[in-house]
Amino acid sequence: MAATGDAAAEASAKRAQRNVVLTAAIAGLGGLLFGYDTGIIASALLFIRSDFGLGSFEQGLVVACVPVGAILGAAFAGQMADRYGRRYVIITAAIVFIVGAIGSAFGPSLAVLCISRALLGIAVGLASANAPVYISEVAPPEERGRLVSYFQLSVTVGILVAYLVGLAFSPSEEWRWMLGLGAVPALALLIGMLRMPQSPRWLVMVGEDYKARLVLSRIRRDDEKAIDKELAEIKQSLEVEPGGWRDLLEPAVKAALVVGVGLAILQQVTGINTVIYYAPTIIEYTGVSSGSSAILASLSVGVINVIATIVALRLIDSKGRRTLLMVGVAGMTASLVALGGAFLGDESGTLVTVIAIASLMAYVAAFAISLGPIFWVLNSEVYPLNVRSKAAAAGTMANWTFNFIVSLTFLLLIDALGQAGTFFLYAAIGLFTLWFCWKLVPETKGKRLEDIQTIFRQRAEARSSP
Ligand code: BGC
Repeated sequence: MAATGDAAAEASAKRAQRNVVLTAAIAGLGGLLFGYDTGIIASALLFIRSDFGLGSFEQGLVVACVPVGAILGAAFAGQMADRYGRRYVIITAAIVFIVGAIGSAFGPSLAVLCISRALLGIAVGLASANAPVYISEVAPPEERGRLVSYFQLSVTVGILVAYLVGLAFSPSEEWRWMLGLGAVPALALLIGMLRMPQSPRWLVMVGEDYKARLVLSRIRRDDEKAIDKELAEIKQSLEVEPGGWRDLLEPAVKAALVVGVGLAILQQVTGINTVIYYAPTIIEYTGVSSGSSAILASLSVGVINVIATIVALRLIDSKGRRTLLMVGVAGMTASLVALGGAFLGDESGTLVTVIAIASLMAYVAAFAISLGPIFWVLNSEVYPLNVRSKAAAAGTMANWTFNFIVSLTFLLLIDALGQAGTFFLYAAIGLFTLWFCWKLVPETKGKRLEDIQTIFRQRAEARSSP
């Protein structure tokens, strides 16, 4: 009997594991839209420019429509996710993305192209604000870090695939194919999400406890008591009604927002997208001007980004968020100092090129094991349930706003401060980030979402008591 019982328990644990991993992997595809769009525009722009005869301003517009759309999309995401559910928002993101991708592939004019790209941006904003929250709410605590990081893994795979697609279609200059193919992962996301369950935590929030229980029994082991306990804990954490934007000013939520929005901004102002968008340009500064080294630089950045993210996935739930953050941000800062140092003298030559390439790669690897995935993980787990969607949306909006600002100002900074000065500036921000993580980021590994909100409540109480 006992043996049969053990076998049944093992089978139910396996089934639950399969379902939860599948749910996280499908929702994580939301990151593909983000990554693909980030990566493809550099290749496509070269040909759009000549087809439509675009000047610098119009080119900037084509690029900028996505981040601006993403800020808007993230702004809507919070409200929509509370009213209609996290799953619904991801489905909407997939549909809007398909429309945007088709629109930009067939767009006959600059205006249609810009509108379509703004739609893509809105979809990316909706998905990036919501997919991590959805995964975080279905994941069991001991695997949450890894499962939410599927989102970042998809971002990095999206960037790499976009780069390869760009390479494949560049000889024929078919930029419409490059943009149109973005509809493929969006279609996969749509079909996948239609079969996925609602977030059990959202269901409890809207009073659908019975349905929440059904979902939990699909993604947890067959253990009535454990499921009842989880349900009771979710309900207990909801002492207050679903909150509005004003509730973000509540002291415990503010304490969590300092961490979420703080990391959102620091993830960008430490300069990752200067490398993702401008790696070939940075290599060219060292005196190399061959097209093939530019291609190699982007390709290596893409591959290292994916590989190091996989390493992070394996470590995040065992070593913890804080350890990875501290090690990774220290590595990013050191690499930026080395990169700046490579440009200090006037000489260019092989040694400078080698140091610059090695530090670029080390920087990307250090980002990918730390701020890359961990910002998205923390932004999905530090807020209380009644305001989680809105607060995560605020973090996402901050992230996209600073993504936009950094990409826009990088070349201006180079003009003003020189290469060495610019990378030293990012290194100084890296040092500040290290202090910020050490001082303010709590360890959330293995903790239930309901317990994480207690950390911030205690912080707020400690601050208000004399
Ligand atoms: C960041 C993006 C960045 C990407 C690179 C993401 O976590 O939010 O801005 O382009 O990582 O992998």
